[in-house]
Amino acid sequence: MDFESALVIDEMDGAEREAVIALWTRCGLTRPWNDPVADMALAETTENATVLVARRNGRIVGAAMTGHDGHRGALYYLGVDPDQRCGGVGRALVEAAEGWCRARGAPKLNLLVRSENQAVLAFYAALGYRPTDSISLYRTLDPEREEREREQKAEWAARSRR
Ligand SMILES: CC(C)(COP(=O)(O)OP(=O)(O)OC[C@H]1O[C@@H](n2cnc3c(N)ncnc32)[C@H](O)[C@@H]1OP(=O)(O)O)[C@@H](O)C(=O)NCCC(=O)NCCS
Repeated sequence: MDFESALVIDEMDGAEREAVIALWTRCGLTRPWNDPVADMALAETTENATVLVARRNGRIVGAAMTGHDGHRGALYYLGVDPDQRCGGVGRALVEAAEGWCRARGAPKLNLLVRSENQAVLAFYAALGYRPTDSISLYRTLDPEREEREREQKAEWAARSRR
């Protein structure tokens, strides 16, 4: 573990795409019904979103995707390499995302925690995040994708129960 070298956080370089997706996969953030390559490509092609990368000695140790919809900021794919956790990288990435959104006028930052990942709530509580009083709803806009997702989620749930 190297917690001594300076941590540097800035926007992802195009050459880092594969390494960042590999990191998100190692962190358990990917799911078969989501496509991190497409999510990343969309973040890279809009001014309203970005991927932030944390590096120590040139090594990628964490990453997150952030953006805003003109009203609120959002945080996705926050992950710190398992051997680099509990050293402040997660906090630094969240603060960098907050700064990125604040600089663009977004007054709040929202994020989703999967129901099976409730252990991470203590981390977010330490950073001042609390549950909303609202219920989050979503709809998949492409009907074919919606059907595919339904099957993939059922498979995932069945595998998780085994
Ligand atoms: C969640 C995660 C990003 C935290 O990264 P990290 O670098 O270990 O976090 P930090 O060291 O910056 O911790 C920040 C604060 O949260 C606290 N914290 C971190 N993990 C915690 C945990 N599991 N339980 C309780 N508190 C925790 C730390 O004590 C620290 O508090 P302090 O600064 O007051 O001492 C990392 O564990 C991870 O990648 N998890 C897997 C992916 C994931 O679940 N991402 C979130 C998806 S919503």
